[in-house]
Amino acid sequence: IPKYEFVEASVVGQNSNVGLVRLNRPKALNALCDALVDDLASAVKLMDKNTSIGAIVITGSEKAFAAGADIKEMKDGSFASNVTGGLLQGWAEISKCSKPIIAAVNGYALGGGCELAMMCDIIYAGDKARFGQPEVTIGTIPGAGGTQRIARSCGKSKAMEICLTGNQFSAEEAERMGLVSKVIPADKLVDEAVKLGEKIASHSPLIIALCKESVNKAFETSLAEGLSFEKRIFHATFSTNDQKEGMQAFIDKKAPKWTRS
Ligand code: CAA
Repeated sequence: IPKYEFVEASVVGQNSNVGLVRLNRPKALNALCDALVDDLASAVKLMDKNTSIGAIVITGSEKAFAAGADIKEMKDGSFASNVTGGLLQGWAEISKCSKPIIAAVNGYALGGGCELAMMCDIIYAGDKARFGQPEVTIGTIPGAGGTQRIARSCGKSKAMEICLTGNQFSAEEAERMGLVSKVIPADKLVDEAVKLGEKIASHSPLIIALCKESVNKAFETSLAEGLSFEKRIFHATFSTNDQKEGMQAFIDKKAPKWTRS
């Protein structure tokens, strides 16, 4: 894994099967400048291709997961330059990853920071994490999924309140509204997220990728379409060695040996 300027990428876990990407731009509270997003997207892409990695954890520092898109970098943009320059388009790379990504959020996850966390598949939050979409306080609106992903995971009233006030909310509130799946003491957060990654990585990578794709369908399509997609993928798993291995190992009371095929 190469060295990057704005992220630290490593492979962790007892079986070296979890990719860890730490956003590292402390002077700007991990504000997501283009170069940082390029580094992050590149690290995630490499980890997605690396067959020894089964899950990825993205984290920041104890003070900030990320304080949003870089306000200084984008403030002089125009509508035309934003369109032609593809402002925020590079961020979509993260949601293209076929492996599960866990966001381990300590400190501020504001604006694009909150949106980056929501692009991940699971969010664990440190007990002092602060979430929010403060874009309206600086004369713009969320642009990397905030209005859409909060609405889908927490409903209209919460999405409206968060996006229209710009108010911050706590890790506990985020858990209550279903945005994060667990709140953990700040100093244990990354370890717990890595353990979750290890648990996921202990399953067949092929089956996990299909399962992630199927859950994601729930956000993209109607219930009938989603159920039909899920059923077909379920049927299709029976053409894999890992389904045969998994079910036989259950019957033999042994641990399965996945072949990712
Ligand atoms: N962009 C650029 N620089 C940022 C930044 C951002 N989003 N957030 C913080 N910084 C910089 C500050 O300018 C400051 O730099 P200087 O030392 O050079 O002045 C440094 O990081 C430390 O920040 P503060 O002094 O402000 O730290 P604080 O502890 O007093 O406050 C904070 C922390 C509440 C997170 C505050 O920094 C803040 O409100 N940040 C901006 C949050 C925000 O509005 N985010 C949304 C951005 S827009 C967006 O994300 C659009 C989108 O949808 C993609």
